[in-house]
Amino acid sequence: MSAAAFTVSASQFTGAKQRRALNARAVTASSSRRAVVAVAAGPKKIVIAGAPASGKGTQCELIVDKYGLEHISAGDLLRAAVAAGTDLGVRAKEFMDRGDLVPDEVVVGMVVEALDTDKAKSAGWLLDGYPRSASQADAITKEGIVPDAVILLDVPDDILVERVVGRRMDPETGKIYHLKFNPPPADVAERCTQRSDDTEEKAMNRLKVHHSNVEAVVGKYEGKINEIDGDRSKADVFADICGVIDEM
Ligand code: AP5
Repeated sequence: MSAAAFTVSASQFTGAKQRRALNARAVTASSSRRAVVAVAAGPKKIVIAGAPASGKGTQCELIVDKYGLEHISAGDLLRAAVAAGTDLGVRAKEFMDRGDLVPDEVVVGMVVEALDTDKAKSAGWLLDGYPRSASQADAITKEGIVPDAVILLDVPDDILVERVVGRRMDPETGKIYHLKFNPPPADVAERCTQRSDDTEEKAMNRLKVHHSNVEAVVGKYEGKINEIDGDRSKADVFADICGVIDEM
């Protein structure tokens, strides 16, 4: 299926009201949801959210390098559990293979445990891809886990599918590349792998799931949402993110 066809399908996933909201956000992305974040006392606590392939992982690499936060990616935790063949991993796999959300009873405990480490508590944390539903937000709030700021990357659907299918990962370093936008160096390219859910078909479902949940998550963090236009160069997106973090 072409990217254009994907766009049409993706737009059918969202209701008219939600679509209008999404369009309005895209137009005013730099100003409509730029929270004035209270100065955070102590280590910084940040959630980064956005659609599949909106650039969360790419920006997390840069944020961690600069600010030394503990990066906790729900997707990485789940993939590690799948690879290790744990009971939770076995349960998660069928949902991940379809591009559906893994049930809360599998994912919440993993994330809470990852946040409950000395490193996360002392250095601060960067929570990537969690929460993805109102119930996931409630679950961490109940544990006293509340971010100072939420960074929400905004990228149009048709761009996202091209990013998904071209993504490649270096299994040795964990670095994220793209065949067209950020090709791996020649000596790395040979060992790069593609994620099994990085197909157009699965991306469409992942996108649909994202659109049906994102507003509920946003609603849980009113006043803390910093929406950033993610359809620009990696460096430009990062500059805006630094602006948010430096104000904290
Ligand atoms: P997860 O691994 O979190 O996947 P995702 O949310 O779909 O996000 P991605 O990892 O696909 O993309 P990204 O935003 O990190 O983009 P990236 O930087 O790689 O989750 C996978 C699955 O696990 C889910 O489908 C679900 O089943 C399960 N799951 C995870 N969390 C869960 C939760 N909380 N609850 C329940 N289930 C959960 O970039 C993508 C590509 O674009 C790369 O090739 C990159 O080089 C390129 N790129 C990045 N930035 C730019 C740019 N500015 N310009 C051009 N190209 C760029």
